[in-house]
Amino acid sequence: MAKRVGFATRMGAIAAAVGSAVGLGNIWRFPYEAGENGGGAFILVYIACIIVMGIPVILSEFIIGRSTHSNMKAALKKLSPGKKYYMFTYVCILGSFVVIGFYSVVCGWIIEYLYQAAIGHLSGHTPEEYSDMFSALISNPWRCVGWTMLFLVFNFLVMSRGIEKGIERVASIMMPLLFLILIIFCIHSLLLPGAGKGLRFLFYPDFSKLTIHGVLDALGQAFLSLSIGISCLVTYSSYFKDDTSLTKDAVTVGVLDTMVAILSGVMIFPAVFSFGVEPTAGPRLIFEVLPGIFQQMTGGYVWALLFFLLVFFASLTSTISLSEIPITFMIEEHKMSRPRAIAWTALFTVALAVLAGLSFNVLDQIKLWGNNIFDMMDYAASNIFMLLGGVFTAIYVGWIMDRKVIHEQLTNGGRLKGTMEPFVVFCLRYVAPISIIFIFLFLTGII
Ligand code: PHE
Repeated sequence: MAKRVGFATRMGAIAAAVGSAVGLGNIWRFPYEAGENGGGAFILVYIACIIVMGIPVILSEFIIGRSTHSNMKAALKKLSPGKKYYMFTYVCILGSFVVIGFYSVVCGWIIEYLYQAAIGHLSGHTPEEYSDMFSALISNPWRCVGWTMLFLVFNFLVMSRGIEKGIERVASIMMPLLFLILIIFCIHSLLLPGAGKGLRFLFYPDFSKLTIHGVLDALGQAFLSLSIGISCLVTYSSYFKDDTSLTKDAVTVGVLDTMVAILSGVMIFPAVFSFGVEPTAGPRLIFEVLPGIFQQMTGGYVWALLFFLLVFFASLTSTISLSEIPITFMIEEHKMSRPRAIAWTALFTVALAVLAGLSFNVLDQIKLWGNNIFDMMDYAASNIFMLLGGVFTAIYVGWIMDRKVIHEQLTNGGRLKGTMEPFVVFCLRYVAPISIIFIFLFLTGII
């Protein structure tokens, strides 16, 4: 078996987990989901989901990963010898491909905007023109797929350099910068005329606008944003040292990730209302309003470049963690060499990403309930794969796993206090499975 190396420092491990969590899920997807689901009430439900399900499920993945120092399949085999629970790993692998398939297309859009910013095209236009600009991008198969491929080349180049060097360095430098720049953009967005309407939309909870679909979206969004449910954090925490406090790390990931999502909302919505863009615009939302924000800023050219560059790196640390799921699996379970595992992962990823990229143009006739391939992948990733995986890990750790291992992992063998163990176990046993199953039954019309 390949030798497993730990993260060099505690900061390195946390930075990598935060790097995985913070990405397009926060900056691109959170605002558009909040916009489609009426704003304030959605955000309240989202935060509740993070606290009672997100953080406990992060911990359940950490417990599985660190107690075994193995990938998901080997971990489940070690923890439940002779049982078939490890079969669930295949669902996780499939899920990771679905996520990275549509996700890398959005990363491609980010590179296009980075390019447009560099050649000075992100200023001097009206909101309608920015909207047309985005439509022109996605309707052009060459540009859409070309940028996506370029992104994937970056991604797999970093992967081939190995986990420690590649991931740790990129993640720990870029994250604080991104945070800072988001705050600066929020301030500028709040200074726009009519910004108050955006704030009201975001923070005034009007529950009449929230449907059960919205609740499912909030839950799926929380899981996608925290990178849980497809064993990503099992893989990462399998590299954690034995003296890290899992609870502290999980709370840090949850809090930072949520802060980035809320900041993105505060950056986008005042501008949405100020420019008269529809909050329900969907995946195109941030691409329609961001250029307008840069335009208002002194030195907008540089800000735009910097912003897309940082978002590019934030996305890269997320796709790296996504591709690490099948790669570690192939290396450790199928005894492949790392380059070979990377090549297979790249091949499947490219195939799915091409399908997703073409679904706005060449393949736009292929639709299911009005959704193209990209939309279906986007929806299935968070609302099906990650939730299913979340219920599985919650039930597995809450009900099936030996309670002693949970105690041992959360308290580091009894040394740590205040690890919220009873709360975590309660949420894993009851809150997460019951609410997720309830929502599914409700949606399918069974209750
Ligand atoms: N959490 C990432 C984001 O918000 C996406 C992701 C999902 C990464 C699952 C890894 C695993 O952008």
